[in-house]
Amino acid sequence: MMLLYEGKAKRVFKTEDPEVLRIEYKDEVTAGNGAKHDFMEGKGRLNNLISSDIFKYLRNNGVDSHFIERISETEQTVKPVHIIPLEVVVRNVAAGSIVKRLGFENGREFTPPLVELYYKEDALNDPILTDDHVLRLGIATEEEMEALKEAAIKVNAALIRMMNLMGMKLVDFKIEFGKDNKGNILLADEISPDTCRIWDLETNENFDKDVYRNGTGSLIDTYTKFYEKMEAVK
Ligand code: TMP
Repeated sequence: MMLLYEGKAKRVFKTEDPEVLRIEYKDEVTAGNGAKHDFMEGKGRLNNLISSDIFKYLRNNGVDSHFIERISETEQTVKPVHIIPLEVVVRNVAAGSIVKRLGFENGREFTPPLVELYYKEDALNDPILTDDHVLRLGIATEEEMEALKEAAIKVNAALIRMMNLMGMKLVDFKIEFGKDNKGNILLADEISPDTCRIWDLETNENFDKDVYRNGTGSLIDTYTKFYEKMEAVK
């Protein structure tokens, strides 16, 4: 079936049904907007298994998304949407870029959670945006922006509960939204340890892509352990 789009970690295909797309997760890992790039056998499978189960957990907890079903170890079907070019980041704890850029102490808690919008535009290196930037760029209306932020806070609450049941703490995450042909906004893309920071509740050990970004451990072993812990929430 026809390849619609190939990204850094996924391929998106059409199916016979115009209301269904097929996503194939690739055995590739990148960091720093592609600055670091590796082939990693088994990564696509783990991301697909984890992302599918997270979308299922969210669905069972009242948060809908583009996810339809997992159809193989490395593939899932989703509803077609036009991705809104925003990365919506929610932070419960300071880590990563906010520590480097603004000097917040690593590990400091944000209550209520902090929501940020970034422009999903590789050529510009995904810069952070103010609300006015979003309006002037015509990316979303004021109402849509509010809806995105509200939806992100709901996703955050559900993911915090899920990770807690797994003995982990949700530090921060990035999500993306899409619009269907009727203009409805739907949670889309992927949620996995590639797109979240997750720390062990007791030891603060990393369960996310930081092990690859920082070269501190095996990504496959880390994601395998995370997937095993998901048994607690199935
Ligand atoms: P940051 O600290 O680098 O801004 O990242 C915040 C969260 O967003 C972290 O969980 C990683 C995730 N993220 C992505 O999934 N994709 C990206 O391109 C970026 C910059 C961050």
